Amino acid sequence: MKITIVGAGNVGATAARMVVDRALANDVILIDIVEGVPQGKSLDIYQSAAIQYSDTKIYGTNTYEITSNSDIAVITAGIPRKPGMSRDDLISVNAEIVINSTKEIVKYSPNCIIIVVTNPLDAMTYASFVNSHFPRNRVIGMSGVLDTARLKAFICMELNVSIENINAIVLGGHGDSMVPLIRYSTVAGIPITDLLPKHRIDALMERTRNGGAEIVKLLGNGSAYFAPAASITQMVDAIVNNRHRIMSCCVYLQGEFGHSDICLGVPIKIGIQGMEEIIPIKLTPEEQKAFDKSADDVRSMIQKLQ
Ligand code: APR
Repeated sequence: MKITIVGAGNVGATAARMVVDRALANDVILIDIVEGVPQGKSLDIYQSAAIQYSDTKIYGTNTYEITSNSDIAVITAGIPRKPGMSRDDLISVNAEIVINSTKEIVKYSPNCIIIVVTNPLDAMTYASFVNSHFPRNRVIGMSGVLDTARLKAFICMELNVSIENINAIVLGGHGDSMVPLIRYSTVAGIPITDLLPKHRIDALMERTRNGGAEIVKLLGNGSAYFAPAASITQMVDAIVNNRHRIMSCCVYLQGEFGHSDICLGVPIKIGIQGMEEIIPIKLTPEEQKAFDKSADDVRSMIQKLQ
C-alpha cells in the first residue's frame, strides 16, 4: 500500500503521522508547495516511527513524480478557516488548489482512491470527482466521519459513558445545515431519546453543527486537525484492511436520497474498492426536509464553482 497525502499542514501532517504510527501502508508520501516543509515533517515522522516500531516509510516532496502508483491519495491542501469565516468562504482559493491537485494525482496514480478533506468539503469533493474522471466509488469526501465523531464525543461527555457504547450518524453537507440523525443515536442500543430530555438532545445536535466553528474560535488562527486527521485515518484503515465498514461520507449521488449530480454525506460501505455501496435509509419527512435544505446549500456552492 502506498498513500499520498497532499498538503503537509496541520491536517495532512497529523494524518501522515497517524497512518505511520498504525503502519497502515508500506509507503507514505507527503507533498506540499512549500519547499522543505514536507521533507522536514516527513523526516521527523520517520524518526518517530523508530520509537513506534512502525516499518512504514515516509518521504516528503514538492513534486508528484514519487507519488506514482499510489493506492490512496488524500487531499488536505488549501487554506483553513479563520474566526468568523464559514467553510464556504474558502471556496475560490481552495477550488483551484483541489482541482490542480486532483489532476496531478490522476496523472501519476490513475487507479487510486481519492479522499477529499479540503473545505468547503462537499463542493471540493464534487470538483475533485468531476476533474478526476474517476468512477464515483473512487472519490470520497471526509465529512460525516468527523461530524459523527463530534456528535459521539458530545453524547459521551453528557452521559459519562464509554465511547464504545455510543452509535450515531450525521448526514448531509459538512456545514451548518448538516443533519445529525437523533433516531439513530443510541447508547448501548438504547435510543438517546430514552436517556436525555429534548432540550439537551437539541443542544448536543446544535453543538455538533457548530463543532468546527467552536474550535476555530478557540484556536484563533486555523481550524481543527486532530479529529479530522483521525477521521482520515479511520477511512484509510477501512480501505486498506477491506473492512466493509459503514460510515457517513460525501459521495456523488445519482438519485439516492432524492438527489442527483451533487456530492453529499450519506451512509456508505467502504472497502478496498473505495465506496462499495450507498446504504439506503428511509428518512422521515422531517429528516428528508433537513437533508433537502442541506442539499440546497451545497448546490448553491457548486453553482459558485461552475
Ligand atoms: N499543493 C500542495 N499543498 C498546498 C497547495 C498545493 N497547491 N496549496 C496549499 N498547500 C498546503 C499549504 O502550504 C499548507 O501546508 O496546504 C497546507 C494546508 O495546511 P494548513 O494551512 O495547516 O491547513 P489545515 O489545518 O491542514 O487544513 C487544510 O483541511 O480541514 C480542512 O478546512 C481545512 O481546507 C482546510 C484543509
